[in-house]
Amino acid sequence: MQPQLASFFDPGTATISHVVYDQPGGHAAIIDPVLDYDAKSGRIAHGSAGRVLDFIRQQHLSLQWILETHAHADHLSAAAWLQQQAGGRMAIGEGITQVQQLFKGVFNLGEDFTCDGSQFDHLFADGEVFHIGQLTARAVFVPGHTPADMAYQIGDMVFVGDTLFMPDVGSARCDFPGGDAAMLYQSVQKLLTLPDDTRLLMCHDYPPQPRPIAWQSTVAEQKQHNIHLHAGISQSEFVALRQARDATLDMPQLILPAIQVNIRAGQLPAAENNGVRYLKIPLDML
Ligand SMILES: [Fe+2]
Repeated sequence: MQPQLASFFDPGTATISHVVYDQPGGHAAIIDPVLDYDAKSGRIAHGSAGRVLDFIRQQHLSLQWILETHAHADHLSAAAWLQQQAGGRMAIGEGITQVQQLFKGVFNLGEDFTCDGSQFDHLFADGEVFHIGQLTARAVFVPGHTPADMAYQIGDMVFVGDTLFMPDVGSARCDFPGGDAAMLYQSVQKLLTLPDDTRLLMCHDYPPQPRPIAWQSTVAEQKQHNIHLHAGISQSEFVALRQARDATLDMPQLILPAIQVNIRAGQLPAAENNGVRYLKIPLDML
């Protein structure tokens, strides 16, 4: 059975959330849903995730999985909200425990925050096979952008998260805590050994003008045209290029609110005694 795909672009964060399902009325996984967060006002909204949820309902899909490719730094995850609305199991790669340890210190999280990944319903091991209704899927460990990234291979598609971007954009940054450009290079080589016509689905797009937003390429296209990682670029060339570029990049606008929510599987911090939830801003840490 061929997987069905619906993709949703969130213009505020340039994120693409994907719904993969077996058939209308069947079972679905949502990959990388976005919770709207307005940094100026501190307001949370559910416009982006709501559009994904509307699709799930219109197609009468039973939500089986909410998959994160990694702990995102550019948007807050809507996984917890979607689970409240439609059920499903929240899952991420087992390396999330490392990311939790790295950031527990940054945010000085208390003893109630455990670094065992138990905030998620399931942690995938590399190569683990799972099912979305009648579809068979596989988790592929692709660290480098963070130490814990997973790609998800479903039929002839691979949801690559923040590893590769569209060929004219290149690759994801590797300068967050625990990131490693050499590791990303190795992860991408693993993806590029898949059959040439394998479809690769992006998590972000930042198109050079005037190209419109896009989120799908193939292994063949990436090997021929990826500006950072086309066939023939050596690991040391890539590492030098990636590190030089990362040195010029500002922190993502939402990294501080995003990470502290996303290492909790998208659950917002508990309300204080006045009923208000607060996020923390560590000074001089990043
Ligand atoms: Fe990311």
